[in-house]
Amino acid sequence: MGINVALDGPSGAGKSTIAKKLAAALKYVYVDTGALYRSVAYYVVSQGIDPADSAKVIAALPDIKAELKYIDGSQHVLVNGEDVSDKIRTPEISMAASKVSAVPEVRAFLFDLQRDIAANNDIIMDGRDIGTVVLPNAQVKIFLTASAEERANRRFKELQEKGDPSTYEEVLADINQRDYNDTHRETAPLKKADDAIEVDSTSMTLDETVEHIKGIILSKTGTKQPPKEKPPREKKERKPLLDFSNVEPVKRGKKLNPFRMFFYNFLRILVIGGFKIAYNLKYEGKENVPKDGSNIFASNHRSYVDPVFISLACRTPNSFMAKEELFHTKKFFVWIIKKFGAFPVERGKGDMDAINLSFEKLNMGRNLVIFPEGTRSHDGKVGKIKTGVALIAAVAQCPVIPVGINFEGKLKFRRKVVIRFGKPISPEQLKITTPGAKELKLLRTTVSDAIIELVH
Ligand code: DC
Repeated sequence: MGINVALDGPSGAGKSTIAKKLAAALKYVYVDTGALYRSVAYYVVSQGIDPADSAKVIAALPDIKAELKYIDGSQHVLVNGEDVSDKIRTPEISMAASKVSAVPEVRAFLFDLQRDIAANNDIIMDGRDIGTVVLPNAQVKIFLTASAEERANRRFKELQEKGDPSTYEEVLADINQRDYNDTHRETAPLKKADDAIEVDSTSMTLDETVEHIKGIILSKTGTKQPPKEKPPREKKERKPLLDFSNVEPVKRGKKLNPFRMFFYNFLRILVIGGFKIAYNLKYEGKENVPKDGSNIFASNHRSYVDPVFISLACRTPNSFMAKEELFHTKKFFVWIIKKFGAFPVERGKGDMDAINLSFEKLNMGRNLVIFPEGTRSHDGKVGKIKTGVALIAAVAQCPVIPVGINFEGKLKFRRKVVIRFGKPISPEQLKITTPGAKELKLLRTTVSDAIIELVH
């Protein structure tokens, strides 16, 4: 089986445009299942059958041969050999498709065709019931939404460009009616699969939505993006790792809002109580934790609770670099980690947005927590440390406090957890004179050794 991506959502959310772009970028086959329902609708309407008359629609099914053909990479829909790709895009056929798609026999009629295509190709399939019914085992499931008004707005503009006389109010009423039909039908109603990731595109541009979903697909499937064709290199000049010539060292000593600090510390004390019950929690080297902010904590990474373990020892709120993928998981989890100060970093490349944000947080007087291994270690050994932490520390000129998180095996209720804070590495020790790879590696080793010493 190839890679199956299910993209479901209501009418007008931009599924087909987005799926086409994704398919082109990822070299998948795009399957527009709505076109199949539209082709059935087209046939019945062309035969003068009322699409709401299910008995007549069912009786007509044996006369329909619906096919999907790919010509130059784009999908064409054939009904009994006739290419109806354009004719099925009228408002009349949209509404008729919504009606015929409520008929269970119509759905069953198109089911095998959809399954067969998915079985033999890497596909991105859009529809209403792909994640729930057609491809329940798809590796990636996206549920794409947008407000009805925004969807109507987009569709209205599209129709206007085609010279269609429909008004915005008509388009909105149409969308609302189709939403109602699609979500209230008995068979395979439009519904988010439990394991689908919801993407709300109301305030995203088309390109932003495509990039966002592409990120989800790549992180879920673990596939690399097809390489972009690189323009020929002009000069063999070696560039600096990242350009920090305009970045000023962090101005330390900035105080956070006293009300927030009070609230933060009040909550912190409450949470410490809870954590002491949940774990046999012990802190060592707490005297090494500065009372003020703008410090960098560099820690080994054992569990999703690590940020909390560290924060409970800090009187100033922390911000965290967390891997980008985490921001595509369950909404509630994302909300929680953001509240705790997490912001995304794309690993494996110099993510300048994340680095700039780190400086912003440090300048605000918050601490920055980095897990420089980039991923959790399950066996307790400290993995390879990435250079990012050294780079940020060198430029920010903030003390780095090494942290060792220790517990045996998996984190469990009442497990003994020891958090050790090492002596701060001073900005003087972190200075680099020429920002080259060699000096950075040396700095990285300083940080890495300090962490390793605390893990035992
Ligand atoms: O995505 P679209 O607007 O082209 O879909 C046309 C109609 O077909 C829509 O009203 C819902 C229905 N449909 C469906 O019920 N199941 C699918 N998998 C795809 C579309």
